[in-house]
This record gives sequence, C-alpha cells and structure tokens, in this order.
Amino acid sequence: MSRLKLSTTSWTTQTAFIMAATGSAVGLGNLWKFPYITGENGGGAFVLVYLLCVLLIGLPVLIAEITLGRRGGANPPQALSNLAKESKASKWWWLLGLNGLLAGCLILSFYTVIAGWGVAYFFESLSGDFINISAKSVSTNFSSLIANPWQLAFWHTVAMLITVYIVSKGVKGGLEKAVNIMMPGLFIILLILLGYAASTDAFAESFHFLFYPDFSKLTWQGVLVAMGHAFFTLSVGMGTMMVYGSYLSKDYSIPRAGLWIALIDTLVALIAGLVIFSVVFANHLHAGSGPGLLFQTLPVAFGKMSGGWFFGTLFFALVVLAALSSAISLIEPAASWLEQNWGIKRLKATVILGLLTWVLGLGTVLSFNEWKSVHFIGDRTLFDSLDFLTTNIMLPLGGLLMAVFVAWVMTQQQRDDEMEMPSPWKDFYRNVLKFITPTAILIVFIYNLL
Ligand code: PHE
Repeated sequence: MSRLKLSTTSWTTQTAFIMAATGSAVGLGNLWKFPYITGENGGGAFVLVYLLCVLLIGLPVLIAEITLGRRGGANPPQALSNLAKESKASKWWWLLGLNGLLAGCLILSFYTVIAGWGVAYFFESLSGDFINISAKSVSTNFSSLIANPWQLAFWHTVAMLITVYIVSKGVKGGLEKAVNIMMPGLFIILLILLGYAASTDAFAESFHFLFYPDFSKLTWQGVLVAMGHAFFTLSVGMGTMMVYGSYLSKDYSIPRAGLWIALIDTLVALIAGLVIFSVVFANHLHAGSGPGLLFQTLPVAFGKMSGGWFFGTLFFALVVLAALSSAISLIEPAASWLEQNWGIKRLKATVILGLLTWVLGLGTVLSFNEWKSVHFIGDRTLFDSLDFLTTNIMLPLGGLLMAVFVAWVMTQQQRDDEMEMPSPWKDFYRNVLKFITPTAILIVFIYNLL
C-alpha cells in the first residue's frame, strides 16, 4: 500500500476526543459484561487481576494505539502501512490493521444483539412493567425474551439501524454530537443507582464480593478472561483507538488522554458491579448466572425504588446510549478504511458493513434459542465462540503486536514526537511496553494453551 489519503477530519476539541474515546470504552463491557464475568469467576480475585491487566496491559496499549493512529494519520491498515514505511519495517504490518477491522465487525455482530436487549428493556420499563415486579418474574421475563428469535432479531435490527445511521453522519455530525449528551447523563444515573445500592442491606456483601480476593476461586481461564476484558473494555487491540487517534490533532497529550479514558472506564465498571451485586445479594439471586445478570437484577431494584419507573427507564435508555456510542466505534475503523482506501462513500460503506454484521448477528440471536446446543469453539455456542475468539484471542494478539510496534519498531525520536512525558515516566513507559506488556500477554496465552 502506498501512503494514501490521510484522515482529513478532526475532533473539535480535546474534550470531544476524550468524550468519544470514553464513549467507545464505556459500554456494554462495563455495565453488562464486567458484572457477569466477575460473577462467573468468583469476584474479588478476578477483579484484582482485571485491575492489574488494565494498568499493566490495557493502559500502555491504549496509549500506544492512539499514538499509532495519530502518527499513521489514517485508518488502521493504512496507518500501519504508512508507519512501516516510515520505519523501514515489513510492509506486512498492515495485516495487523486488517485483524482489527475484522475483530470490530465480529464484535459488532453480537454487540447489537445485546444492545437490542437494552432497547427491549427500555420499552418494558417505560410501559411500567417493572413496577413492584418480583425477582422471579424478572427472570422468567428475561428467559422468554431470549427464547424468542423473532423478538431478538427485531431489537437487533433496531440497534443496528441506529448505529449505521449515526456513523453515516460522520465524525463531527454523528459521533461527536451523540457522545456529548450521553456521557454526562450516564454518570449522573450511575451515581443515583450507587446511592440506592448503598442504602440496601446487601451493599457491604457486594463490596466484600468485589474487593476481597479469594484466590482459590481464580483459574487460568479466569485470568485469560480478565485480560481479554481489559482489552475489550478499553476498546483496544482492534483499531478503534487508532482511528480515533487519527482524527486527533498534534497538540493534545496522548498519555493524559489515555489516563482519563482508563480511569473513567474502570470507575464505571466498578460502580456498575457494586450496584448490581447489591441487588443480587439483597434478592438472593445467583451471582454466576451469566449474560442475563444485568437484565435479571436491575428491574428488581427499580421495581422497589421510589421513582423507580423514572430511573429505570432512564437507566435502560443510558444502557442503550452507552452501547451505541461503543457500537459506532466498532465499525468506524472499517468504515474509514472503505472510505479512504476504496473510495466508497461513507453512507454506502456503513450500509455494507451494517448489513454484513447484521446477517452474522442473526447467528448470535439463534445461539440463545434454536442453536443453543450447537457448539463451535469447544463447547461454546456461536455467541460464546465469537466473544471468545475476538475478546480473548484477536484483541490481545492485536494489542501485543501494537505494543511491539511502538516499543521495538518505532524510533525514540518518533515516540518523543508523539508523546511527551516527563523523563522518568518516559523510560518507565517504554520498558513496560517493551517487556512487561508483551510478556504478560504471552504468559496468559501459553498457560491457556497448556
Ligand atoms: N469498550 C466497549 C465496551 O466496553 C466495547 C468495544 C470494544 C468497543 C472494542 C470498541 C472496540 O462495551
């Protein structure tokens, strides 16, 4: 690939970039996935490993990925091709970008299915269905939703249409506008819920579950899940942060942006976990009940709370918005590649990508009902297999190679150009990225293979 049309558009302000990147990071991964995988993996010890993975793997790769994007100045395959040329490295580095585009589309295919559950719950909450509902009926309600492929396909379609619509409007008119309203709202609602959770008797138990590690409950598989989730939740390893970085102008500090993004993302996940497990324990529900956890617990809390109808409806609206601000970032890398390298108009590019991922998403829809016992990777359903393949393999592998590129292929001069850090931090960061991050990823991989 030659050095082609660079990203020409840019974020209006640094805050707009942080909002968009945080909007990408904060999503179903925080509100839906983190609590349920923590429940499945026994709580505290898993959380501790996850926090370590965010700090030692996720954050360094996040900073590296934004750097690659800004310096590469284009969509992921093209950015890497540009950078490889600049550093006289192998031209095959562009395949790392392609791995990202593919991972993004695969993730999106199941992401809109789950976002669809959020849309369905928004309307149920709005119609007052959750007022005074018992934990048992919430659970029956959820089971009947996922047992019905038509209903799931319908909500999946709605979520996909909105995603395609926003992305087709472009960076400033679509992405930026959407996140500026959503992120502050999400925070306020989450704090209100935290207040509610703190008033329940089960809050202490929830706190204990999340923050007191019991290492006998941790497995190597759990460590792999925690590492994969660090990538998933920060949206790194697949090119989202790269393409967002390519719209970032030169005078913004990448390390500072990275710290903010990681901090906000982690806080949102921990607060969501505290809230959800308070409801779980207060109602004697099962912490390890899997992907349905969020949808089987929060309606109970809202049903009992005064003003629950209002807050519940608002909360599910925000789940949907948080999901959408991530969904749009999942197709942006591929959309910008089609636009910049293939000369396809943005609208057409997003429609093509939306259609392909929508069809694939029907497989995830069926994996909860008709294809429940059809297994793909190991004993995993199609949904579990896609999640495993992308989150636990493709993102960590992508992240590993990005770290290698920035730490080993780029020169010190190039790194200094992009990220000005005070001196001791500079060496510390470089060494983490050079040795600790790749080694940690490899160790987790190898242990899991054995
Ligand atoms: N970070 C998003 C979440 O936590 C998911 C995501 C992954 C978005 C990768 C973009 C890229 O829900």
